[in-house]
This record gives sequence, structure tokens and C-alpha cells, in this order.
Amino acid sequence: MIQKLTLSIAIALGLSGAAQAASSEGHVYDYDFSFEGPFGTYDQFQLQRGLQVFTEICSACHGLQYVPYRTLGDESGPGLPENQVRAYAAQYEVFDEALLDGEGDFRTAVPTDHFPQSSLSNAPDLSLMAKARAGFHGPYGLGISQLVNGMGGPEYITSLLEGYTGEQMEQAGAILYENTAYPGGWIAMPPQLYGDDVTYEDGTEATTEQVAQDVAAFLMWTAEPKLAARKRAGFAGVLMLSVLAVLLYLTNKRIWAPHKRKVKDGVPAE
Ligand code: HEC
Repeated sequence: MIQKLTLSIAIALGLSGAAQAASSEGHVYDYDFSFEGPFGTYDQFQLQRGLQVFTEICSACHGLQYVPYRTLGDESGPGLPENQVRAYAAQYEVFDEALLDGEGDFRTAVPTDHFPQSSLSNAPDLSLMAKARAGFHGPYGLGISQLVNGMGGPEYITSLLEGYTGEQMEQAGAILYENTAYPGGWIAMPPQLYGDDVTYEDGTEATTEQVAQDVAAFLMWTAEPKLAARKRAGFAGVLMLSVLAVLLYLTNKRIWAPHKRKVKDGVPAE
């Protein structure tokens, strides 16, 4: 018995040690985002700024192949007016297999087309990156911290863009850049933000932290476009279940009332 107990304690300690070692690899700071918490929603202006950052900087290498242009017009997303969505799509060309009698040809993109794939082969597609790198704020727990503090993905992306130390090294012919957020510490993506990298039309100052947060928020939206609707549905669900629980409790009381004799001073009442 004692042996078993010691063994399980040792295993538990060993596991948490390993988990700690893993989580100490990259450092992710806890940035505040408007969409955190049970009632958080996206900040439409932030998503528009994030789209600008993605378009002007990140899209040089990264794709967003799972995102159709038309969603840029979503009210719960960047909320661009229809003519702007069409104009945005028209900057791109897509290969359409149906053209030229099935031979295929390039044509101007329309809102129903998707963003292009990554143009640099080793740069991953960013459509779902914010969720892929969400993490769970530790290997155990009920996800409560995740609900209250946010997913972790946008925090990771912001920390990644802010995490360059300026050191670089060459490995097997490729240049790697030291980054405090990236697991392993060395990433193949060169630093992207130096300050004043974009000019925002809404007057927001384009500090590196601001730009990093804006694009991270935008990428959270591409990964989870229905976040607000999902939270609303969840809230309605919890509310309904609470009402149901109260009703069930009262019904239960009522059903059993005739069978439960009242007892007074240790003697049945009748
Ligand atoms: C010059 C090309 C280039 C540009 C521009 C670029 N990236 Fe990258 N990015 C890369 C490459 C290459 C990788 C893969 C790095 C690796 O595997 O070491 C990468 C990886 C990433 C990752 C994944 C890291 C991980 O955990 O695997 C994220 C997130 C990312 N980039 C975000 C961005 C954002 C946001 C921007 C715009 C601000 C941007 N990148 C601009 C080349 C680029």
C-alpha cells in the first residue's frame, strides 16, 4: 500500500516536473484583449488594424487559405462595407480551373474566394494559428483560467513578435533568430516589427506592442470568427440549465413530500 502510494506520488512529481520543464521553454506574456472573459467581444477597429498589418507585413510570406474575403464584411468581424470587401479581394489573383475550357487561368479574386496560401514554403498558414498555439495555461485544470484569462494563442503571437533578442545564428545554411517566446528559442522567421511599421488611419500610434496585439487579435478572429455568438449561446445554455435545475429541485421536493413524514421530537407527527 505504502509502496504504491510512494510510487504514485513519485510519478505525479515526475510528471509535473516534466510539464514545468516544457512550459518554461518559451515565455508568453499575458496581454489584455477585448475578447477575453465570458462576455468579451472583438474590437472591430482593432481587427481592421490587424488586417492592415497582416496585409502589409505578414502576407509577404504567410497565407490565410481557410479565410474567405467575404467574411471581412462580417459584423462580428472587421465589418468592412461591401464595396471595400470587393476592392480588397480585387487586389489578388486566383487560379480558376474552370476558365479556358478547363485548362484554367488566373482571374481577379472576388469576395467568395479565399486568401492565398503561404507564398514562402516554410512559413505556416496563419488561418488557425491562434487556436493551434492556444495552450491551456498549464497541462491540467478545468479550462477555467482559459475562460477568464483568454485562450493564450493571441498572447503567444504577440509575445512571439515582441520576443526577438537581436541575436542570430546560422544552422545548416539557414539563419535562425533568437526569440524568447518560441519553444526552443530559435525561429526561422526574421524579426518583423521595428516601430512605425504601419501607419494607422484611425490615429492609433503604431508601437511594436500595439501592432503585434492588433495582428494577434486579427488572427484570433480568423481562427474563431464566431466567438461572440458562441459565448452568447453558452450563456443562454447556462441560464436555461440553471432554471431547469431549480425547477427539478422543486419538482423533486413535491413528488417526495407525501412520503416523507414529519418528525417532531423523535416521534412521527401523525
Ligand atoms: C519573411 C517572411 C515572413 C514574414 C514577413 C512573416 N513571417 Fe511569420 N514565419 C515565417 C517563417 C519562415 C516561419 C516558420 C518559423 C520556423 O518554423 O522556425 C514563421 C512562423 C510564424 C508563426 C508560427 C510560430 C510557431 O509557433 O510555429 C507565427 C505565429 C508567425 N510566423 C506570425 C507572423 C506574423 C503575425 C507576421 C506579420 C507581422 C509574420 N509572421 C510575418 C516567415 C515570415
